[in-house]
Amino acid sequence: MAPLESQGTVLGFLVFEHHQPHSWQAKEIELVELVSAQVSTAIIQTETIRQVQALVETRTAELQQSLDVQAKLYQRTREQIDQLRHLNQLKDEFLDTVSHELRTPLTTMTLAIRMLRQVGLSSDRSAQYLDILEQQCAQETNLVNDLLALQELESQKTTIQLEELNLSELLQELAVSFRQKWAAKGLVLELDFPNAPCKLHSDRDRLNQIFLELLTNAGKYSEPSSRICLKMVCQQEPTKQISLTLSSVGASISPEELPHIFEKFRRCPGATQNAIQGTGLGLALVKCLLENLNGTISVSSAPTQDPQIWATRFTLSLPQSLEK
Ligand SMILES: Nc1ncnc2c1ncn2[C@@H]1O[C@H](COP(=O)(O)OP(=O)(O)OP(=O)(O)O)[C@@H](O)[C@H]1O
Ligand SMILES: [Mg+2]
Repeated sequence: MAPLESQGTVLGFLVFEHHQPHSWQAKEIELVELVSAQVSTAIIQTETIRQVQALVETRTAELQQSLDVQAKLYQRTREQIDQLRHLNQLKDEFLDTVSHELRTPLTTMTLAIRMLRQVGLSSDRSAQYLDILEQQCAQETNLVNDLLALQELESQKTTIQLEELNLSELLQELAVSFRQKWAAKGLVLELDFPNAPCKLHSDRDRLNQIFLELLTNAGKYSEPSSRICLKMVCQQEPTKQISLTLSSVGASISPEELPHIFEKFRRCPGATQNAIQGTGLGLALVKCLLENLNGTISVSSAPTQDPQIWATRFTLSLPQSLEK
């Protein structure tokens, strides 16, 4: 029996047998020792190669893992760059639209002033140009005010002023001024309110602005001599929500336009074709104000029997209290 060993560690034994009793010669023992030394070396080499292979496999797997992590990081960075690029493009488009919208009334005003400077202008003509000036000034002021209001809301610079309000009363006051304004167009405003006053804890100015924009739209885009209806329902416990619907008939909001109508500067083609004044900021402002008051707004529009006239309905939901 010859041991297989390497640096003092026994790896195994080589066993030699003879078919008869045999006394081993010195030469044979020497040969056996030589063979066991070579077998030991072979065993150690194989073991070392196996260990090296295992190490290479572990390192390769680790390297692959780190490459995967790097690829993911690279992908995320690319996505962030794309997102920033998109935001930058939106900002550029917004600035383009704003500067265009700001310049339009100024161009008309410059023209009106030039006309007013003409020598020997009749008083009728002068009055006409002054009307144009006044109108364009009002449009510019509205635009700047809406832009500032939106900017303040979006950057959350203003704080909500909460107070106990009677929404029925607030809307009835608004209705008085709108009925006067709409008399010339023959529009009728119907209020369908519950008998009991609808109370809520909210911000008066924001609510006023929301209904001012929505009623102004209803007036602008309705058929002459049509009916505009504002219905209010106060739900009691457990939802404690107030829902309001404002229905009018007139200009269409096509299914393609509907999903975008609350975006800034978005106007239906009919509004611009018929030269109805506006910049498309009103509904963006309304949505922002409502979100501020934890409310929601949605819109539907569908043709009536006369396919030129569409029925449009804005549905609002407001919590009776902003406190959770
Ligand atoms: N009651 C409505 N009936 C039909 N179309 C409407 C009605 N309200 C709004 N729209 C459509 O939605 C568009 C966007 O309204 P929005 O109030 O945002 O802008 P605007 O009235 O055009 O301008 P602004 O309110 O800034 O003066 C309008 O241009 C119009 O095409
Ligand atoms: Mg409007």
